[in-house]
Amino acid sequence: MTLLAKFQLLVLALTSGLAVADFRSDLTGTNTLFPNSDGYASASQAYNRRFSRQPAAIAFPSTPQDVSAIVQAGAANGMKVVARGGGHSYIANGLGGENGTLVIDMSNMKAINIDSSANTVEIQTGNRLGDVATALNSAGRALPHGTCPYVGIGGHSAFGGYGFTSRQWGLALDPIYAIHAVFANGSTVTATDSTNSDLFWALRGAAPSFAITTSIELHTFPVPSHAIGFSYSWELDATAAGQAFLAYQNYSLSGPPSVMGSELNIGPGSSRGSISVSLVGGWYADESSNDGLDAALQPFLSQMPEPSSSEKLGNGTYIDSVVQFGGSLDTSAEPDTTDTFYAKSLMTTTGSPVSADAFNAFAKFLSEDGFDSETSWFMQIEQYGGPNSAINSVPSASTAFFRRDVLFTWQLYASSSNSQPPYPEDGFTFIDNVVKSVTDNMPADWDYGAYTNYPDDRLENWQQRYYGSNYDRLQQIKREVDPNNVFEFPQSIEL
Ligand SMILES: Cc1cc2nc3c(=O)[nH]c(=O)nc-3n(C[C@H](O)[C@H](O)[C@H](O)COP(=O)(O)OP(=O)(O)OC[C@H]3O[C@@H](n4cnc5c(N)ncnc54)[C@H](O)[C@@H]3O)c2cc1C
Ligand SMILES: *[C@@H]1O[C@H](CO)[C@@H](O)[C@H](O)[C@H]1NC(C)=O
Ligand SMILES: *[C@@H]1O[C@H](CO)[C@@H](O)[C@H](O)[C@H]1NC(C)=O
Ligand SMILES: *[C@@H]1O[C@H](CO)[C@@H](O)[C@H](O)[C@H]1NC(C)=O
Ligand SMILES: *[C@@H]1O[C@H](CO)[C@@H](O)[C@H](O)[C@H]1NC(C)=O
Repeated sequence: MTLLAKFQLLVLALTSGLAVADFRSDLTGTNTLFPNSDGYASASQAYNRRFSRQPAAIAFPSTPQDVSAIVQAGAANGMKVVARGGGHSYIANGLGGENGTLVIDMSNMKAINIDSSANTVEIQTGNRLGDVATALNSAGRALPHGTCPYVGIGGHSAFGGYGFTSRQWGLALDPIYAIHAVFANGSTVTATDSTNSDLFWALRGAAPSFAITTSIELHTFPVPSHAIGFSYSWELDATAAGQAFLAYQNYSLSGPPSVMGSELNIGPGSSRGSISVSLVGGWYADESSNDGLDAALQPFLSQMPEPSSSEKLGNGTYIDSVVQFGGSLDTSAEPDTTDTFYAKSLMTTTGSPVSADAFNAFAKFLSEDGFDSETSWFMQIEQYGGPNSAINSVPSASTAFFRRDVLFTWQLYASSSNSQPPYPEDGFTFIDNVVKSVTDNMPADWDYGAYTNYPDDRLENWQQRYYGSNYDRLQQIKREVDPNNVFEFPQSIEL
């Protein structure tokens, strides 16, 4: 071997080794798991086991300064960087979109500071919804958010955050008035309506494409003195189910009280040709009886056959209503569960509601193909709107969360039969056809959206479905604050 060849080999060995060594030494002092570390395998498992990803490293910061150092280490080494909050992304985006991503796991950043005189709270983004609800409740306060205690506030409030209090209080991102974050170049930033207002706009609806958020500050709400869950169940043939869906839409359009939120949960029936339908929701008011709730449900229930079962859920306290829907709020007590699934969503509007034909086709498809499906599935029609909904009182252009004219958000969800991998190919076709049963019975130019917190890796035209006419402004801001696309993952805002 010539001297030159030896020298070239030496340089090659040094530089390739150095890149890794540099990256590792850049992270010295931070609690970090590398692929050969104990605990890496379980820490890199996705909630949705349809995905398996191998991050370059999973770093666990304790402070915003740690987050800044980790982001800089990743960017300097040409890596994609993502944050992970509760890890519940439907498409595993908290692990990045490809192997070799640097993951910043926020789980050591769990401070919650309540200001009882200002009725505000600052929440670090490593918290989960169970932590948030418990801490706030002890101070007599609450926020709007989803039901699963293990979902992280980081991802949830980045993309929306819907629960049964949302018609009264808005989405989880709506009460946010300040966000503390780290840019792709490692600089820390505080964004509000008056400072860094473009960033503040973008973070409320599309945060992960722009920055790693370290904490959010929100206005809180007083816990209602009477909170009660409700559940009514039916087994319906396809015709009756189609009528029930239409009646629920008509009822929702009529504007039931905003202190109530509800959804229809749909599952397989006990025989081919039927499906199970239940109305589930919550009532949050300052009164001591259920009379107001019963009166508010009457216009819908009077259109329905006798339910096979009905119950009120909970002891009347706000926190018990949270427990009734989500189970124990203590997320340190048990390990999180996982699933293997594919889901799509539809956001259907108040302005062009779903036709009777579309509801009938949806009910018929589920009662036949749904009965035959090998998957384990559920469908939900979540009530966002009605004329008095707080979600819809925010104009579409005032935050990055565009879909403000929504009456219903539909979730169409199928798991492998045992919730383990592999996911069956016909699970994709089944969910595609559930959606088609609706869209094929609506005009070709029908405007509907998709929910960013139920991301769908196979969604066509996702830019429009998620972000509508907000997408251009999101791209402009992306080019300004992350020109090298450090925060890139599937369906991140493009340059
Ligand atoms: C069982 C279950 C129940 C659910 N129930 C509801 C519900 O009732 N209502 C509802 O609206 N949604 C619900 N969802 C959807 C849920 O809101 C989203 O999956 C949410 O994005 C999860 O957030 P996470 O922090 O747990 O997930 P992660 O996978 O950690 O994060 C999701 C996305 O946000 C990014 N991200 C997380 N933290 C940060 C941060 N600090 N800075 C920047 N980016 C960040 C991640 O990189 C990723 O792209 C549910 C999901 C599951 C699995
Ligand atoms: C990523 O890593 C996982 C786990 O090691 C592997 O199964 C998968 O094939 C890899 N994906 C790519 C695109 O290399
Ligand atoms: C639609 O709603 C109105 C007002 O709630 C009610 O009077 C009417 O009977 C409903 N119609 C159907 C078909 O459900
Ligand atoms: C109601 O339930 C909650 C939690 O589920 C419990 O902590 C509380 O003690 C109960 N209150 C009453 C009055 O039963
Ligand atoms: C980092 O990026 C932000 C957003 O573009 C910019 O405002 C800030 O000045 C940059 N910081 C440095 C040190 O370049």
